[in-house]
Amino acid sequence: ETVADFRKTLLDWYDESGRTHLPWRENTDAYHVWVSEIMLQQTQVETVIPYYERFLFALPTVADLAVADEELLLKLWSGLGYYSRVRNMQKAAQQVMIDFSGQFPRTAKDLQKLAGIGPYTAAAIASISFHEVVPALDGNMFRVFSRLLKITADIALPKSRQIFYDKIAPIVDPVRPGDFNQAIMDLGTSLMAAKTKTTAESPFARFNLSFKDGTELDFPVKSKK
Ligand code: ADE
Repeated sequence: ETVADFRKTLLDWYDESGRTHLPWRENTDAYHVWVSEIMLQQTQVETVIPYYERFLFALPTVADLAVADEELLLKLWSGLGYYSRVRNMQKAAQQVMIDFSGQFPRTAKDLQKLAGIGPYTAAAIASISFHEVVPALDGNMFRVFSRLLKITADIALPKSRQIFYDKIAPIVDPVRPGDFNQAIMDLGTSLMAAKTKTTAESPFARFNLSFKDGTELDFPVKSKK
């Protein structure tokens, strides 16, 4: 099986069966994608959707967020919890206005200079909004690729991140990197969810080394801390 074959199978499946109508997938402006990714960090998709719509209606641009009253921010975030998230977002919005002339940085490397944006969120925004060819490494990505490629690196260890990055980066679709990353999120919450075994009918079975030898549920390797 070739990498080109895997990309096509993944993106065809995503176009057919992915959640392509989520609001932050229909408008991939960096401000929108950023708001969605921060909300989705500790909150489920169905809960996030109305908060996301309300937030962008009240604060349609990063400039609006930079100067918003704290009272409004807390009201818009009320029920989502982890208020440090929205405080960091206002800090980041001010950084965008002051340090980046009102334009979001366009690479994962530069996006990490903003408050509250770590490697995963930076890669998600860079790939979805700016087509940077980088993998967005989250729990879904670790599970899916550890199973497909039988990657035995222990995901509890910080050094494993680089091992996964180096194996996955060459596989990311160079034309649709954001859709590639979001397709993996959908695959990781459906056909390849935790505790879910691949069936012979799955379009991904032929790419899945751990399915072929019956070791799928041994992946990802994670030591208890
Ligand atoms: N969880 C985190 N980011 C997401 C995205 N872009 N789409 C769906 N679920 C997500």
